[in-house]
Amino acid sequence: MNLIDDLNWRYATKAYSTQKVSEEKINFILEAINLSASSTGLQPYRIFLIENKEIQAKLGANSFNKQIATSSHLLVFAAYNKVTTDHVRSLISLAAQKQGVSVSELEGLFNMIDSYFKTQTEEWQKSWAERQTYIALGTALIAAANARVDATPMEGFDYQIVDEVLGLNEKDLHSIVILSLGYRDEANDYLSSKPKIRIPISEMVTKIH
Ligand SMILES: Cc1cc2nc3c(=O)[nH]c(=O)nc-3n(C[C@H](O)[C@H](O)[C@H](O)COP(=O)(O)O)c2cc1C
Repeated sequence: MNLIDDLNWRYATKAYSTQKVSEEKINFILEAINLSASSTGLQPYRIFLIENKEIQAKLGANSFNKQIATSSHLLVFAAYNKVTTDHVRSLISLAAQKQGVSVSELEGLFNMIDSYFKTQTEEWQKSWAERQTYIALGTALIAAANARVDATPMEGFDYQIVDEVLGLNEKDLHSIVILSLGYRDEANDYLSSKPKIRIPISEMVTKIH
């Protein structure tokens, strides 16, 4: 199946059936997310996988998005509130381990990344972490489509409730976006048979030769 077919197949699903997504497909989507690019490779976000109708109902309180309570699984994407020296240290120690070198050999890299973030405000760091999180969301959308799992990216939820239910403040995280996963209920989803609405590529792209 080619990628354009996958992307044409997917849409922001409004109504889900009761069919569950298999663990294998969920793991495939999580693996794809983990392979997302992020600036400096820091992956400044964490993903919460929820498969519990009671918790889903709590997370969907105050939201017009019924998908939060009714889908098979939820992925809550949460970004770090700031970038700390500990985050950079963890990255360098992982890089040393993966590359089979000592941490001291990567000291130059550590200093470069750490000092880069230290020159930025906490507000900038928070916004930077959020931008990286959306890249992970994009990867998840593509992976779900490739696995023929329906998905809905959602910003329409009560951030305070979600942060509280998942205890995100204590982890120095905040919720960014929720991705519901499941299978479309074609009979009850007005969008399932609608065409894609996209601007022409010629309008989106300015070609400079
Ligand atoms: C970051 C983000 C937030 C979104 N929030 C919602 C939402 O709260 N509820 C919803 O039904 N759709 C939401 N959408 C879906 C968009 O409306 C949808 O992706 C867009 O209309 C394009 O249509 P398609 O994804 O079906 O091709 C969101 C999409 C993105 C990328």
